[in-house]
Amino acid sequence: KMGRKFVVGGNWKMNGDKNQINEIINTLKKGPLDPNVEVVIGVPAIYLAYVKSIVPESIGVAAQNCWKVAKGAFTGEISPAMIKDVGVEWVILGHSERRTIFGEKDDLVAEKVAHALESGLKVIACIGETLEEREGGKTEEVVFRQTKAMLPAIGNNWSNVVLAYEPVWAIGTGKTASPQQAQDVHAALRKWLEQNVSADVAGAVRIQYGGSVTASNAKELAACADIDGFLVGGASLKPEFVDIVNATQ
Ligand code: G3P
Repeated sequence: KMGRKFVVGGNWKMNGDKNQINEIINTLKKGPLDPNVEVVIGVPAIYLAYVKSIVPESIGVAAQNCWKVAKGAFTGEISPAMIKDVGVEWVILGHSERRTIFGEKDDLVAEKVAHALESGLKVIACIGETLEEREGGKTEEVVFRQTKAMLPAIGNNWSNVVLAYEPVWAIGTGKTASPQQAQDVHAALRKWLEQNVSADVAGAVRIQYGGSVTASNAKELAACADIDGFLVGGASLKPEFVDIVNATQ
């Protein structure tokens, strides 16, 4: 993992209120968090400014979605410009819940990625296959297709992108990909990037694993050669998130 700083994201999804947020931030402040790990918390839009006002500088903050233009008549949406305006530097895009529940297709995800990067946000770009696709032997085909759709959007901005491989069947199910299953996909992705982007990008881009990561499986996953961090859902709301951040220690 030479040169790739481990990066752990906590995706709160649509969870938390001010009380719980205060507790989570206090837990993170107490840590201690491995200073060699980049930590980013993905916060519901309505709490971004609040979290920014109480979180230590050393912890990154991410929006969980954004729209593809800076402003205009898009009721209910938020733009990368607004996210930046409240001091937030990251956005999570293409999460499987956005893709499945809200019908976001590869091309819309790509447009969002393009605009977020142009606006100066860093992007956690999510990809991953469904159970049906995995059982049909289509895992690589799907994650390559999802990644390919983002290539023009990313252009030479790869240093501002983290890829999150989240097999849909592992999300919120308690069914984690085995370290071998995750490592295989991560390695295949890196190879694909080498062939379709460049050896430099393939070597430098960080690929997170997401899907039922907990304090008890994080160490084994973190030890895999091509796993450069996690995107954590449920466990990011709990004190064990600290142990997940510290999984490489
Ligand atoms: O983005 C993180 C995610 O989808 C995984 O959720 O609850 O399985 O850790 P969870």
